[in-house]
Amino acid sequence: MNDIISIKDIDLAKKKVFIRCDFNVPQDDFLNITDDRRIRSAIPTIRYCLDNGCSVILASHLGRPKEISSKYSLEPVGKRLSRLLDKEIIMVRDVIGEDAKSRAKDLKLGEILLLENLRFEKGETKNDENLAKELASMAQIYINDAFGVCHRAHASVEAITQFFDEKHKGAGFLLQKEINFASNLIKHPARPFVAVVGGSKVSGKLQALTNLLSKVDKLIIGGGMAFTFLKAQGYDIGNSLLEEELLEEASKILTKGKNLGVKIYLPVDVVAAPACSQDAPMKFVPAQEIPNGWMGLDIGPASVRLFKEVISDAQTIWWNGPMGVFEIDKFSKGSIKMSHYISEGHATSVVGGGDTADVVARAGDADEMTFISTGGGASLELIEGKELPGVKALRSKVNE
Ligand code: 3PG
Repeated sequence: MNDIISIKDIDLAKKKVFIRCDFNVPQDDFLNITDDRRIRSAIPTIRYCLDNGCSVILASHLGRPKEISSKYSLEPVGKRLSRLLDKEIIMVRDVIGEDAKSRAKDLKLGEILLLENLRFEKGETKNDENLAKELASMAQIYINDAFGVCHRAHASVEAITQFFDEKHKGAGFLLQKEINFASNLIKHPARPFVAVVGGSKVSGKLQALTNLLSKVDKLIIGGGMAFTFLKAQGYDIGNSLLEEELLEEASKILTKGKNLGVKIYLPVDVVAAPACSQDAPMKFVPAQEIPNGWMGLDIGPASVRLFKEVISDAQTIWWNGPMGVFEIDKFSKGSIKMSHYISEGHATSVVGGGDTADVVARAGDADEMTFISTGGGASLELIEGKELPGVKALRSKVNE
């Protein structure tokens, strides 16, 4: 596979640079940013451009707006970025409208402009060439540092790249780091390599699980998805989450794992409750003894000890998906403890997915993990072995 063109390979000096970022950050009801990791992660590339005397045009999506609305404005992002960089950010009211175009045209070296939410333009998610052309016309260089959205063939991610030749487009530092971590993990993991997979649904992670089986030494399955596997093994899981249509697939994964010599671990006990709420009564029960009408909502203490033992000799750990309904305090212990054990060990620890990153942050372990991906869907697709459209568009064709 050809190399990705790096920002380092491009002569940036005093140019106008368009940087596609992923500033799709979580916000509370008052639009306060509750986690600015994606903004902070974009800073090295922005600073590099400024240090090269460039002017910078930043663009991102935020949420999935159906129409233009202040709820989806990038204004809070601009404010946060301005504080983090200690520098003025020029904010405009549109994406390719009058305001954006004239401010982009007049942008001086050293200045930073932030366009409004790209998804205010209908063409963005349609990979529309005309929108891409308009965006491209604003700058001389295109840099993609938006790893989180690279699995989307969108106008500012894919179509735009055709308007720049190989000397004028490339990947920013965050994107390169993300790709390097994921490909080292899949191609040359230090062994034993353990994958810890959780979250509510098997369906979203089926392909990743299947692809991982031929790569890992051990696989831990927790979270809501574990119940489909337990059921496939003949357990009575009460009212726990079940994807009935995937029972056969779950059985196949267990059999395939066995044939490949991969050790697969499921919860041996769970935190069960009659309802998914903080006020519901709860008890620890063996996985075989979930009472009728009750559901498993977290892994239990015996599973925590088992999983701790399983990862104790790991050299590489990939973790994607919480072990229980971590948003509710009562059912968060399993996820929090896994976060502690993964971060305390000596393994290279790579965390993917917004929920898992959230668990790690809540557990106070973020600084102890080797790498926390800024991508949810994108990091999963990399593990599934797919080439992301946004990344493919930045591979050099020189040696083809
Ligand atoms: C994400 O949060 O995973 C990315 O920003 C992509 O957002 P999307 O799923 O709305 O395309």
